Amino acid sequence: MRTPYIAGNWKMNLAPSEARAYASSLAEAVKAAKPDCRVMIAPSFVSLPGVIEAVKGSGITVAAQNMADHLAGAYTGEVSPEMLKDIGVETVILGHSERRQYYGETDEIINGKVLLALSLKMEVVLCVGETLEEREGGELETVLERQLRVGLKDVQPDEMKAITIAYEPVWAIGTGRTATPEDADAAHRFIRETVAAMYSEDIANNLIIQYGGSVKPSNVRALMEKENIDGALVGGASLKLDDFLPIITFSK
Ligand code: 13P
Repeated sequence: MRTPYIAGNWKMNLAPSEARAYASSLAEAVKAAKPDCRVMIAPSFVSLPGVIEAVKGSGITVAAQNMADHLAGAYTGEVSPEMLKDIGVETVILGHSERRQYYGETDEIINGKVLLALSLKMEVVLCVGETLEEREGGELETVLERQLRVGLKDVQPDEMKAITIAYEPVWAIGTGRTATPEDADAAHRFIRETVAAMYSEDIANNLIIQYGGSVKPSNVRALMEKENIDGALVGGASLKLDDFLPIITFSK
């Protein structure tokens, strides 16, 4: 049984005071609504301490959106995974397409971060997904397979329980254009088959695969009904309680 896992990636939105206030209302709403899924939110680095404080006792996981590929040293502007752990962050999103696109993160860099996070016993949400050009060029499976094989290189079978995969087709992010539940499910099935080939059927069957890309209250249910879709990684619609609450309570 895979427990549904719904996450809000706040990206570079909400100032720390706004993030904290919103997190408090979300925590209250989650305690009242008791969603049938695990809920995670990923605020910006500077908002993490306030948000952690605000959601205490609610069961909401607070994650970072990124981290450095080193533990400490002369890396101006970076945030170490050890610093995240020190403030109570145990989960990190890695390989988001915006990190790949705008900050030059390669599969190799992302793999280094994945291994570092796992060495500190952190949980990882590893993002994969193709651009429109790649999809239209028939490269969907090649791209996903490369992102998985390189991104998870040297990850040991017993560490796979700390890994969640988020399938986020780049053309569906922030565009209002959602993948159809059928297209998303097909990509998720391919991801599961690839992980089965790399590890085992058992590990693949237990793997949580989130879909991300213009998830909203109106489409979450149809997506979540699909066999291989186990959760969502929500951007824009995670920034307001009125949108995010109906998404995390999709089954009610
Ligand atoms: P949107 O939900 O705004 O399309 O963003 C998806 C995403 O990138 C989540 O990580």
